[in-house]
Amino acid sequence: MTRDDANEGVARPGARPDIEGREPVREASINHDHWYAVARADEVRREPLGAVIWDRPVCVFRDADGAVRALEDRCPHRLVRLSLGRVTGDGIECRYHGWRFTNDGRCLHVAGLDPARIPEAAHAKVLPVREQDGFVWVFPGRRESAETVRPMPMPEWDDLDFIASVAPMSCEAHFSFVIENLMDMYHDRLHQRHQPWSADALLEVTRDEGRVEARYSATAYYRIDRIWSALQLALPALRRPHPASLVVSYEYPHWKARLGDDFTLYGVFCPAGPRRTRVHLVQFTSLHRLDSFRKAPVSVRRAVKRCLRNIARGLLKRLISQDVPMVEEEQRAYDAAPERRPLELNRTLHAVQRLVRNEARRAANGAARASQQGR
Ligand code: FES
Ligand SMILES: [Fe+2]
Repeated sequence: MTRDDANEGVARPGARPDIEGREPVREASINHDHWYAVARADEVRREPLGAVIWDRPVCVFRDADGAVRALEDRCPHRLVRLSLGRVTGDGIECRYHGWRFTNDGRCLHVAGLDPARIPEAAHAKVLPVREQDGFVWVFPGRRESAETVRPMPMPEWDDLDFIASVAPMSCEAHFSFVIENLMDMYHDRLHQRHQPWSADALLEVTRDEGRVEARYSATAYYRIDRIWSALQLALPALRRPHPASLVVSYEYPHWKARLGDDFTLYGVFCPAGPRRTRVHLVQFTSLHRLDSFRKAPVSVRRAVKRCLRNIARGLLKRLISQDVPMVEEEQRAYDAAPERRPLELNRTLHAVQRLVRNEARRAANGAARASQQGR
């Protein structure tokens, strides 16, 4: 682990950004050897649902037992999307000529062809898929790597002390602009009264393999110590300032922020392509200070968790509606003049960019190794 203290590593005006000899961050590929959050678990049903991970279309659906399945969203016949088709008793049927595939991608039926003569190439490609913490995660990388990494854990999802709110964020921008927006806590001016915290000072940036963490001293504008305190999420007039710690981390390829004990926020990423990024923001409000609630029967706590679900969605949507135009504006500025270097003074973002480039390099090295082995 490396650590920067508060006075180190600040870029000097006019200094060249440290990208010499490295892959430019705005063109960096994702590292495919990670789990990406393609959809909320409650969106994935028996009807097939199409998603895209880094220009690769993916079709997800539930089989007859309710388990999630993922196939490449291209019929091997004419490459139309399988997600336009329908789920059958034992798999999925393409809408066009009705080729049928099992849940494992095996092609069972081609009109006019003896099943014994269906070639290997007619099978659909299967992708590793998991359901965890309210999301469906797909692993677009090497199959053998899927067991060695895990989706971003969100233990609060099933914890009765936490209320979840979820909001999607879609940006026409490279994912590096989006993660930099989330890691830079010095843009509360943009959010004004809507953001329930403000960062006072960046204290420390630590880097580890696959991870950057920034600690800020901060002011939280709300505290959950009565059941109605949750209203502060929606009504800024009820908020009061409290000193709090704010820790944000890029746990490649996802993001996490923790504000004091009350508020945890995740950004689970699904970069759809080099200029399109989809993220789900998942916010958890902790009820751990509410003693009477914690002593209530589990059935009551479950009901409260369910009833208060998405209490902060409006807040998330407002923050997103303010962030997205800025992120897209950055992308536009970059596309118009890619040689023009921005002047970034928050060293957290330098560490984030380094991590994005490192992961892209690891992805390129892995792909080169795989193609050598395949030769
Ligand atoms: S395109 Fe799918 S069956 Fe023809
Ligand atoms: Fe923001």
